[in-house]
Amino acid sequence: MPRSRERAQVSLENLHRIFTVPESPDSTLGRIDQAISDNLAGFLQEHIVALERDLAEIEDDFSQSRIPEEPTFVSAYTDFLKEKVVSQSVHTASPGFIGHMTSALPYFMLPLSRILTALNQNLVKVETSRAFTPMERQVLGMLHRLIYGGDDAFYAQWMQDSRHALGAFCSGGTIANITALWAARNRLCGPAGSFRGIAQEGMFKALQHLDCKGLAVLVSRRGHYSLGKAADVLGIGRENLIAVDTDDDNRVDMKSLRRHCARLNAEGIRPLSLVGIAGTTETGNIDPLDELADLAQELGCHYHVDAAWGGATLLSGTYRSLLKGIERADSVTVDAHKQLYVPMGAGMVLFKDPTALAAIEHHAAYILREGSRDLGSHTLEGSRPGMAMLVHAGLSIIGRKGYEMLIDHGIERACRFARQIEAHPDFELITEPELNIFTYRYNPAWVQAQLAAAPAEQAARINEILDKVTETMQKRQRETGRTFVSRTRLAPGRYRGSRITVFRVVMANPLTTDALLASVLEEQCEMAERDENRVLLEQIEALCGRREFKTA
Ligand SMILES: Cc1ncc(COP(=O)(O)O)c(C=O)c1O
Repeated sequence: MPRSRERAQVSLENLHRIFTVPESPDSTLGRIDQAISDNLAGFLQEHIVALERDLAEIEDDFSQSRIPEEPTFVSAYTDFLKEKVVSQSVHTASPGFIGHMTSALPYFMLPLSRILTALNQNLVKVETSRAFTPMERQVLGMLHRLIYGGDDAFYAQWMQDSRHALGAFCSGGTIANITALWAARNRLCGPAGSFRGIAQEGMFKALQHLDCKGLAVLVSRRGHYSLGKAADVLGIGRENLIAVDTDDDNRVDMKSLRRHCARLNAEGIRPLSLVGIAGTTETGNIDPLDELADLAQELGCHYHVDAAWGGATLLSGTYRSLLKGIERADSVTVDAHKQLYVPMGAGMVLFKDPTALAAIEHHAAYILREGSRDLGSHTLEGSRPGMAMLVHAGLSIIGRKGYEMLIDHGIERACRFARQIEAHPDFELITEPELNIFTYRYNPAWVQAQLAAAPAEQAARINEILDKVTETMQKRQRETGRTFVSRTRLAPGRYRGSRITVFRVVMANPLTTDALLASVLEEQCEMAERDENRVLLEQIEALCGRREFKTA
């Protein structure tokens, strides 16, 4: 913690001052405030160190477990933040940071987010949020309309209806997915006859009531791990989250899905929900949403679409047809802190049926009284900030057409980068971009030729060595590079389903240029020339009995 040169005094007067009077604008805090407001990206570029400090070293700065006894000046604390936190943060807004789903934000998000802090509204109840409640309802209505395309009369009837909610606003895709399956579970196991419902009587009684041995959620192997948490907290059990095989394009294999459904049926396990993915986290692919809707209808089960990443694609007239069938889902997850370019902490789940959330409605005597307009009666979280205001700001300021441009450019940039990779003799494209995420690896043409001709065992050994190459290069680039890509493990069909390590790129930052993408490959080629990688490539050479090392 900071050591102030002059010690701050504890007095009631001083304590009152920190709730009312900011320090002078000339203070360090004032200057940082100004720098941040002027240009966050510039601020980070100036202050982020190029060389990563070891995380263990950074941990030493945070090793004290005692709460500081004495107060300190805000300016002193700000100096501490600047030196120990800001300088060691990750510059996610950098156009060269193309490894994760977190990217640059529109400049206006920062000053507008100060309004949230200044007003400190709590969306759990109208008594602490007033206008923020109808605003959140409007945002949910806008997203609902984007997905389900109801008419004016539908939204006039439901959007501000205090007894219902078209969806739930939450901190992100994880809570959105849990909320969707929570509502699905409570609807399937709702009160009937003498059974008072799973919410009252629990899973054991619910299964007895349904006369089955368990409930299952089915999703492709590419499903996000948040669904595992949902299966866990909802008492479904992680083993009953069925990971279905995918085709070569990372989309759920419908035949395999049907086989699982038949097996579960024979075992007395009831499908609670099918989950389709619109934008898989690792590869950006979209499941056959219409076919999944048909099957869910046949099975009579809930149909959820996890569009945390890809949902914003609906804003593009050019690409929205990729998500055809999403409008048949009972519930859809969309993360605003992904492709709606809102700061972290904004997710939504939308329900086709405006009465669906009644299944998880809860009340309390001091707030959330029955019939109140409180949004908290339909959410998993309790106290919540007014993040919907920033979604509202994005949708209003950028508009549908602005988002369309961002989405279209991201997808088209991803396609151009994929073509650059394909044309490059030292790289292998692993998955084609369907949206704006795809994967590739460093694999020089001569190794690719050896792999194509090698017997299975030798191919597996070569892939193991290439895995090490990918991992070493990715770590090195993260530590010293000017650009950043992430890595993951996939089992592409061309390698007979063996898992290999690949680079993963996410084209979401509008400031990323084609020239910069070319430099990502250049940087990776430079890294491949380093001793640690040459040694590995020589191992492949020895394995294949090839003498010449360099690529053609
Ligand atoms: C497809 C998908 N679903 C859900 C999530 C979870 O979202 P969050 O991290 O906002 O909880 C993610 C996050 O990457 C995702 O890609």
